[in-house]
Amino acid sequence: MNVIRYYTMTTIKKLMVLLVVLSLISMWFLSYSVLPLKGENDKSLHMRLPSSQSVSNTETKDGHASKRQPSKHSPDREGDESHVLPSALVIIERSDSVFAYNITSALEANRIDFTAVLIKERHWPRLEHKQVGKFSVIIFQGIHLYLDMDKNLLQAIHQYCKKYSVGIIFFAVVRKTDEAYTRQIGDLPVYMDQRLSLKDLVISPSADDVLYVTKAGQRINDSLPYDDWTVFRTKHTSYRPIVQAKTLSQDLLKLNSPAAVLHTTMLLDEGNFDGIRRIFIGNDLRFWLHYILFLDSISYLSHGLLKTSLDRYIQVDIDDIFVGAKGIRMTAPDVEALLLQQDILAEKIPGFSFKLGFSGKFFKRGNEKEMEGDEALVKNAQKFSWFPHMWNHAQPHTFDNQTQLVNDMKKNVHFAKTHQIVVDESYAIAPHHSGVYPTQLILYNAWKQVWGIKVTSTEEYPALRPARKRKGFIFKEIMVLPRQTCGLFTHTIRMKDYPGGRERLDGSIHGGELFQTIVNNPMNIYMTHMTNYGSDRLALYTFDKVVNFVEMWTNIRLKAEKPVKLAKKYFEIFPQEKEPLWTNPCQDKRHLEIRPEKPKCTQLPNLLVIGPQKTGTSALHSFLSMHPNIYKNQPSEETYEELQFFSTTRTYLQGPEWYMNFFPQVEDSTTALLFEKSATYFDNANAPLRAYSLLPKAKLIVILIDPAKRAYSWYQHERAHANPASMNYTFYDVISSGTELGRQVVSLRNRCLDPGKYTQHLQKWLQYYPTGQLMVLDGDLLKADPVAAMFKVQRFLHMKKVVDFSKSIIYDAKKGFYCPVVTKGHTKCLGKSKGRIYPPMDSESEKFLQHYYQSHNVQLEAYLTSISQSRPAWLNKALTENTK
Ligand code: A3P
Repeated sequence: MNVIRYYTMTTIKKLMVLLVVLSLISMWFLSYSVLPLKGENDKSLHMRLPSSQSVSNTETKDGHASKRQPSKHSPDREGDESHVLPSALVIIERSDSVFAYNITSALEANRIDFTAVLIKERHWPRLEHKQVGKFSVIIFQGIHLYLDMDKNLLQAIHQYCKKYSVGIIFFAVVRKTDEAYTRQIGDLPVYMDQRLSLKDLVISPSADDVLYVTKAGQRINDSLPYDDWTVFRTKHTSYRPIVQAKTLSQDLLKLNSPAAVLHTTMLLDEGNFDGIRRIFIGNDLRFWLHYILFLDSISYLSHGLLKTSLDRYIQVDIDDIFVGAKGIRMTAPDVEALLLQQDILAEKIPGFSFKLGFSGKFFKRGNEKEMEGDEALVKNAQKFSWFPHMWNHAQPHTFDNQTQLVNDMKKNVHFAKTHQIVVDESYAIAPHHSGVYPTQLILYNAWKQVWGIKVTSTEEYPALRPARKRKGFIFKEIMVLPRQTCGLFTHTIRMKDYPGGRERLDGSIHGGELFQTIVNNPMNIYMTHMTNYGSDRLALYTFDKVVNFVEMWTNIRLKAEKPVKLAKKYFEIFPQEKEPLWTNPCQDKRHLEIRPEKPKCTQLPNLLVIGPQKTGTSALHSFLSMHPNIYKNQPSEETYEELQFFSTTRTYLQGPEWYMNFFPQVEDSTTALLFEKSATYFDNANAPLRAYSLLPKAKLIVILIDPAKRAYSWYQHERAHANPASMNYTFYDVISSGTELGRQVVSLRNRCLDPGKYTQHLQKWLQYYPTGQLMVLDGDLLKADPVAAMFKVQRFLHMKKVVDFSKSIIYDAKKGFYCPVVTKGHTKCLGKSKGRIYPPMDSESEKFLQHYYQSHNVQLEAYLTSISQSRPAWLNKALTENTK
């Protein structure tokens, strides 16, 4: 008995031990398989947070800032959205698909950062990097892409969505090849019925928490366009209908539902089924309402990371208030109607008034009734806002000088005084945007001098089309805001003149282009003309209707603001736009029409010698200038032969007109080549994009020498200029210094060593320029055999006339370098600062730099091969020395 008891006890004890061991194992398993995920995420909390722009977007519908919080409907999440960048991943089927274009255009127009990837792409972007999710929402162009997706990829996406609480948007579009009308969506408890016609749509009144721009509870009591709708069915509690409609399709009616049943065309998956939140949309973006529902889906699923404010500022300019032919001008009743409409709009847009742009010369140029109209405008002047146009409506670019412009503007000042018109002196518009962009310095100067202008607007920066890419910029302290187009121009006088007539205009208002423009842009400045307000008052109709439509369907708050405040707000929202990015003023046909004749379009370089410093750039500059068809720029007073336009912000902000004026006007631009050399460009962070934006076709020459030698030469250069840090510390001290030697020495060290990380900088240039436009020139060859080097250069430049420099560039024993021959037997070498005399580098520094640049040189070798550039001899030597 005891024995039995003993054995029973031991078995129980054993079982208990086993139990403890098992639970320990399972705890260990849990802690390693689940908890580390949390632990890792905790670590990444300290990593990159969303940008301040995104954080400020977390605004509630009533305009209050809210702390970003997980949605009340989001499932328990392992991650936290703070780890996710404000960016969207768009998965598309084909790059030439119109729908994919519409999706990406909508994102672009709303300034939502995104990456588009083809479903068949072999190199997918990384979803996360160092515990930071790279996308805060994923968008599938078609649900079939999701259903047919590679299982591993799908799993990776699911895992990512769970970890970072990122939601997915699906557009359920029907393809011609889709046979099944009813289909389950993967493993989800959701079925979709396709190819349906729908009517009587209703936006769920309780979808207020999901919708942001779109007003909940609104209805369309009519049949919906298109017959390829998809509706979704599910019984699972994780799902909520957001938009529903009745069906007109017999198939579905027969199948299961009486005509009155509502079918779901937009479905929210709250994530309670498998931990992933989703929104299914039952058609594409052709249906206007889907445009705003799409934006709402993005904002909801990204936890507000990709959400903008609901404030929309509206400004309606009536340029040319007195300019128009007899018979199409405004009469006194038109002015009354204008005032009445202004009052109506002001009720919906607090502070709104029409802004009238006047050219005094054309006052009372109409028929009798129209003269009364002009008088009525002036009589009611204080009820409107007024801004100056040009006195005689001349385009500023046609003026030769500032004095002429100033005199013209002064006549308008006089006109305003005589007619007691109080002018908003901070805002002006130039006829046809002439002189605003491309910028014309005399216009900006004259505006400031005569009116004290601080704000203007244009639709020409960087170009009229596509409208979604228009931006603002600041030039000579004048804030230039982008303008939007409402479709009314000088020639759209009556409804019948509107292209496509009333139906088309109504389409634009009722969810089409004009409506979307208001949705997309926080600041809307519309240009209209006096002729749009006479006759059948097309403009009044347009603004009345669009404001009502916005009010009815959206939570957008329409506002008005004075130009300076408006512009300041604009640049607060988009501070990155303050600094302009100049484009070639002669590339765009419209720009050509509104720019002055001088400087000529040919006064832009076709070649940039970009550096880096101390590689022989001045020698190349002098040799290039010897070619009869190659022209250099005039020297700058400040920076001599180098203009440093793209690398010095102060200089860059002088504008392209300033830059172009340094270049000569050549007679035969087909054979001539203009060039500029600024060695500061190579390693400057801004230069590649700035240069590419203005000179996308330019060729680039980079000269490379052993980076160690370059660093030493640069140090000697600093010593020659008595830079205190270089005078007080040896070369070795500088290059090997840490923070212990102070900020100045560290800065000297970085400026000395960084340009030598050649690949890093080359990559930045080739991010924009095609590799074929770049030449890497061996600096040692240029020094030892400039004639051979110049042959290479001329071949690269496709010079029609190839010059043999063997007689005109000769070795000067005194200088110890090759120099240009000026007169027989006489050379003109570069000055003392080029080819300086200094002791050779000490061996300690040599070793240090050999080691320092080793990986960079290895990288350079591979990179040069990848961009089909030959390897300089010094690189081979540096690499073999390192392997010794
Ligand atoms: P050192 O002065 O250290 O010798 P950069 O013009 O880009 O600032 O480069 C100056 C370097 O160009 C000089 O550095 C010099 O070695 C090199 N160089 C190459 N060919 C030259 C030439 N023909 N005349 C003078 N310097 C030349």
